[in-house]
Amino acid sequence: MSDFTMNADHPGLAMDRGVQGVLGAGLDRSEGALKVSGTARYGYEHLVEGEVAYGYLITAPAAKGKVTGIDTDAARALPDVLDIIVDDPRIPRQAAAFGPAHAGNDEIDHWDQVVGVAVATSFEAARAAAKAVRVHVAIEPGHFDTMADIDKASGPPKDSRLQDIAKGDIDAAMAQAAVTIDQVYTTPNHVHAAMEPHASVAIWEGDSLTLHSSLQILKVARPVLAKALGIADDKVRILSPYIGGGFGGKMLGPDAVLAAIAAQKLGRPVKIAMARRQLFHNVYRRTDTNQRIRLAATEDGKLLAVGHDSVVSQGPDGGFMEPVALGSISLYDAPVRHFSHKVVTLDMVMAGAVRAPGEAVGTLALETAMDEMAEALGRDPIDFRKLNEPKVDPMTGAPFSTRGLVACLDRGAEAFGWAKRSAQPGQVREGEWLIGMGVSAAVRINLLVDSEARVTLSPDGRARIETDMTDIGTGSYTILAQIAGEALGLPMERIDVILGDTDLPPGAGSGGSFGAASAGSSVALACEDIVATLAERMGAKAQDMTLKDGHAVAGNRRVPLAELVGDAPLVAMGKISQGSNARTFSQAAHGAQFAEVAVNAVTGEARVRRMLGVFEAGRILNAKLARSQAIGGMIWGIGYALMEEAVLDQRHGQFVNQDLGEYHVPSHADVPPLDVLFLEEIDTHANPIGVKGLGELSISGAGAAVTNAIYNACGVRVRDFPLTLDKIL
Ligand code: MOS
Repeated sequence: MSDFTMNADHPGLAMDRGVQGVLGAGLDRSEGALKVSGTARYGYEHLVEGEVAYGYLITAPAAKGKVTGIDTDAARALPDVLDIIVDDPRIPRQAAAFGPAHAGNDEIDHWDQVVGVAVATSFEAARAAAKAVRVHVAIEPGHFDTMADIDKASGPPKDSRLQDIAKGDIDAAMAQAAVTIDQVYTTPNHVHAAMEPHASVAIWEGDSLTLHSSLQILKVARPVLAKALGIADDKVRILSPYIGGGFGGKMLGPDAVLAAIAAQKLGRPVKIAMARRQLFHNVYRRTDTNQRIRLAATEDGKLLAVGHDSVVSQGPDGGFMEPVALGSISLYDAPVRHFSHKVVTLDMVMAGAVRAPGEAVGTLALETAMDEMAEALGRDPIDFRKLNEPKVDPMTGAPFSTRGLVACLDRGAEAFGWAKRSAQPGQVREGEWLIGMGVSAAVRINLLVDSEARVTLSPDGRARIETDMTDIGTGSYTILAQIAGEALGLPMERIDVILGDTDLPPGAGSGGSFGAASAGSSVALACEDIVATLAERMGAKAQDMTLKDGHAVAGNRRVPLAELVGDAPLVAMGKISQGSNARTFSQAAHGAQFAEVAVNAVTGEARVRRMLGVFEAGRILNAKLARSQAIGGMIWGIGYALMEEAVLDQRHGQFVNQDLGEYHVPSHADVPPLDVLFLEEIDTHANPIGVKGLGELSISGAGAAVTNAIYNACGVRVRDFPLTLDKIL
């Protein structure tokens, strides 16, 4: 299988020539006005013909045990209640993630497990009914402590993209090296807590289901939902045109399955939104992690060994494993390399993908350890990283497609004023506040997944893009129009983008930072087909023809597109496949994160004062939206460094902070102005548009930059995240 090479294989991609000036421009998002005016209709807001009913999930107040009875009499007697459904075998136990939904039975295996749904003519009545149901559970002792069960741990699941790796003898390297770091870092459970909860409206017509919902990847959700309901895939249509955040958690929730079950039983549309507290326990979480980092170096700072060994947890049903070491594998040069994962099964909701699975928490540990090693060596942390920059992938020996880590470190150091940093911690003081600077590398694997799009160029000179790609708030509508605009020479207002409907060609969906590259490539390839047809009609070669302002120009001829299209629209399908991104090149996106913090010497309070992220993520499709993505990720980094933690009650196996009042994420006052720079390098090996994933890259390393800055400010090294003030004091 050969690698994709943009210029050689696809000379006709007009965007490669950039004649329109549309691609890359920081245009406002095209659906922005709809969103701020409340006219963009999210899943739950979908109005349905006829009388809609409201469902509310019934959950069990125990983490482990057997349901011995469900008392529904009191609930059924409440006003406006239509039904209490607790005996349907299709009732799912939790968010179905990537596998089949879990058929309900008597087993309780995580706190707040779904056991049914109350349906009423109003949301309030449904909620009251759900709370009036008595679920009796014979409670059994549960396992909630990852490290307590370490002796029962298993290795990575076979289908995990990350298997254990051992190259050389790390114990020997550690024993012989002049300077070593061997530390354990821990991160807590995290939740997605998207602003918009999981919510669905289910409508049956005969044996066909239409679901309005909030889901990231429709072609994944559809078969999972169909299987959960016991119907054929083609009997399910899902619409999810707008999504109020997902972060990996909006794959398929119990809301979807139960709305469908209830709507079918009652013969009327049913809508269900999950309550915030239910989201904390019934959408998969990000696992807690226990990460041992081992670094061995020569006296002059050359790494001899890198080890990153993790213990993570999983629920009884889960197959996913947090790939903690994903970013560490190819980040630094060192002959000896050791990466392993152990998975402990707990009586908790399954663990799954949360924004930047792997790198988000892996870099917290690795990049803190790199800071510790730089200090032990008496080296500047940027110089130390540069000294260990590999020339080829240190794991596979493959050349890098592009690799901007050193350039990002250098550019950032200059822009941030790194030279002003005191190498010695605790030296800079402003009244009660100790000031420090920190740096971290950022890395995120680059993915490409199957994606299809249909592009139609109409006789009236408008283009229409259709794919079931989603826009999770990231700007898919806008960038896809920009790609088509660039390729076809059309202004943005002449391009319609239709997304989020399984009736359309199956797109990448949103996840893994693969959306822009994958869906964008499919649109580019469809446009390339159309360009080829137009060129043929012009009697020119595609590369000798320019499309601009609704006209085709070749030689001394300038012809309106409408004339070339003629009476019948030009329709083209674009399809990119995962396999076209062969791995003879090592591909990842890189960056450098810089933070300046102030730590209060009296209270231990840490405040981020400024941050800079410098990123190399291939072509930037829209400068404004890319910057927004980066800022979002960096804010997430602040949260992981300083506050995000789902606190587990070890007695009962429940998270005690089950809402956004108690589960702290950065608010406006926690976030200073953030700067973002892009070092744009079009990656011609990655995909037809030269884009690499950006969203998750910007989380990577952001937290470690903050905590390294805290160390530089006050000389306190905390290895258990988040760094709340009690740990810093
Ligand atoms: Mo992402 S955690 O793959 O939405």
